Amino acid sequence: MNFHDCRNQNPKMHNPNQNTKAAKIGIVLTDPDDWTANAFLKNIRKRGVKALPINLSTLSASISTSDFFIFNADLKDLELDAILVRDVGISFALEEISFKFDLLRQFENSMIVINHPTAIQNASNKFFSFYLFKLAHLPIPRTIVTFELEVALKTIKKFGSAVVKPIFGSQGEGIIKLENTQPESELASKLAALLKERGVLYLQEFVPNPGRDIRVFVVDEEALGAIYRLLRSGSFVSNLSRGGTPVKCKLTEEMEELAISAAKAVGADFAGVDLIEGEEGLFLLEVNATPSGKGIKLACGIDVTKRIVDLLFERIEGKK
Ligand SMILES: Nc1ncnc2c1ncn2[C@@H]1O[C@H](COP(=O)(O)OP(=O)(O)O)[C@@H](O)[C@H]1O
Ligand SMILES: [Mg+2]
Repeated sequence: MNFHDCRNQNPKMHNPNQNTKAAKIGIVLTDPDDWTANAFLKNIRKRGVKALPINLSTLSASISTSDFFIFNADLKDLELDAILVRDVGISFALEEISFKFDLLRQFENSMIVINHPTAIQNASNKFFSFYLFKLAHLPIPRTIVTFELEVALKTIKKFGSAVVKPIFGSQGEGIIKLENTQPESELASKLAALLKERGVLYLQEFVPNPGRDIRVFVVDEEALGAIYRLLRSGSFVSNLSRGGTPVKCKLTEEMEELAISAAKAVGADFAGVDLIEGEEGLFLLEVNATPSGKGIKLACGIDVTKRIVDLLFERIEGKK
């Protein structure tokens, strides 16, 4: 077999607007044991439709003047009708992550892909998402992004208490808290080390909070439920992967409106939206466009993956 045998010659697969029932849906994932990925697979298979786990790292692309196609390690076309993205995978290698998103973008050209790759990129970028939130007039903590150590030091003085985050980060990793009560030399050496490692500093005003944050799940402009994530003692990050505890949270109108607007601002069809209760009201911390559904299932019994799969089918069938 040569590469050209695996080109997709099935025209049915490349019309996203047609009203045919999907035959095979790809779930983009990295961890085959992940709860959310498996819930997606199960909910699709329950409908009698094939669901194929796909790790983007196993795909290759062939491109020439006359041809373009994607193939797997067996040199075969994936023959997909739609894609649901659970997890693209973390990578700090620019070419690797860029190629993964380019694969998703070209899939989107010929089939339904949710979330849209652009929405995932917008959401995962803690600077650009804040820019979109600002344009949408949503409440966000003051944030400074700078290449300059001096600017960073002045920012800590101004904020009093600040968190320094990676622009592309998740699961509470790489976030540190700095206070202007710390000696300036200590602050300068910590910031200089971070600047050397990251090339840019993202500093955000610390929002004093009641020892928890709120994750609201939004699917198709509807808030399905929310959990508080209680801080583990001694920690200021509430991520479940860092010892936070999920507890049922009653949705208020303010939470619903903010979470729905935030998901919309980045273009996400489904999202886990992180909010924090400041002294004067809610602040938006981030939108996760590849959220885990496990915490809300455990704390509230709500299966967001089912609603996401329903939305995918509504899209495929042209109803949405
Ligand atoms: N400005 C802030 N003030 C107070 N706590 C914060 C702030 N930013 C983040 N946190 C805490 O850190 C956690 C992780 O921050 P977040 O911005 O959501 O990054 P990640 O993508 O790593 O989850 C939040 O869920 C919250 O508990
Ligand atoms: Mg978060």
